[in-house]
Amino acid sequence: MQQTEGSRHTSLKENKNCIIYGGGGFIGSHLAEELLNSGYNVTIFDKLNFSKLNILHLAKKVNIIEGDFNNEVDIKNSLKGINFVFHLVSSTLPGNSNDNPIYDIESNLVSSLRLFDDCIKLNIEKVIFVSSGGTVYGIPEYTPIKESHPRRPLVSYAIIKNTIEDYLYLFYKNYGLNYTSFRLSNPYGERQNPFSNQGVIAVMINKHLKDEKIEIWGDGSVIRDFIYIKDAVKPLVNALSIKTKNNIFNLGSGKGYSLNQVINVIENVSEKKMNVEYKEARKIDVPENVLDIENIKSEFNWMPEHDLPNGISKSIEYYRKLTIPI
Ligand SMILES: NC(=O)c1ccc[n+]([C@@H]2O[C@H](COP(=O)([O-])OP(=O)(O)OC[C@H]3O[C@@H](n4cnc5c(N)ncnc54)[C@H](O)[C@@H]3O)[C@@H](O)[C@H]2O)c1
Repeated sequence: MQQTEGSRHTSLKENKNCIIYGGGGFIGSHLAEELLNSGYNVTIFDKLNFSKLNILHLAKKVNIIEGDFNNEVDIKNSLKGINFVFHLVSSTLPGNSNDNPIYDIESNLVSSLRLFDDCIKLNIEKVIFVSSGGTVYGIPEYTPIKESHPRRPLVSYAIIKNTIEDYLYLFYKNYGLNYTSFRLSNPYGERQNPFSNQGVIAVMINKHLKDEKIEIWGDGSVIRDFIYIKDAVKPLVNALSIKTKNNIFNLGSGKGYSLNQVINVIENVSEKKMNVEYKEARKIDVPENVLDIENIKSEFNWMPEHDLPNGISKSIEYYRKLTIPI
């Protein structure tokens, strides 16, 4: 049979092995799906005895390694035969990382550097890192925020994300480690943990469907850039095959919605009024964060396919099924 350009491309991918550190989580599970759909072999690395709920539907298609990102031996062993590395582990959240910055450094920064060191020794072809577009810039001087905007983090979580990016650049310059870092905005959608302090849309939808009160820090005027998860994971996968001029990309929708506007969208889609209580604003919440996505759009030939009502509608459908007792 004659081989077309497309099939040659696919057969190349079929021989390539990817590992996702933190692959059992929200973003990792969607990334795994997208990698499999694109023809890659996938290994998911996550904590010992991690809940397999997010990846239950993929269990037969992926290799699963249970280990500790902070354990040198676990990392070394997991990298055998791997071509591409996705780093999605974080032991802290923006909201709690200032409680113990030393823990943040030890568990996130030191372990990341150990991983990158091993990647160089083992000739890993590329490292993809998920950084944070919502926190690395701090209070923006302008919006939408370009990648070249000064980085002035207000939380340890973002200092660590920035420092990991800086080390990736250092390792790239000194040892030729290929990498792409994505400064991801606020992803939402199926499988986001509705009980976490990260992911306001999941929290809101879950409480709303159960007729529970929703607490909002501040008056709901803070503006955020929300991106539907299935749109967000596409460039992460394409970064393995596309050569780009830049190594660091904002990854968001490029559109800003206030929390009050999000509430309106959820109310419209669910055709039900939300029970909202406004609480005192938190110091760590910047008033506005919208990312400039021109670089990623042009270099990846990518555009988010879902607008907020569309993505929220899919999310509501998902959480509705979860909240209905079977
Ligand atoms: N969700 C967001 O809003 C968002 C936004 C920007 C960036 N990010 C970043 O994206 C990455 C993934 O986020 P997510 O929302 O999927 O989080 P998540 O908590 O759903 O997934 C992270 C996974 O990492 C695993 N993990 C944590 N510590 C580990 C360890 N020591 N060893 C092995 N596994 C470990 C967890 O068990 C979890 O399954 C994180 O680095 C996060 O900082 C997330």
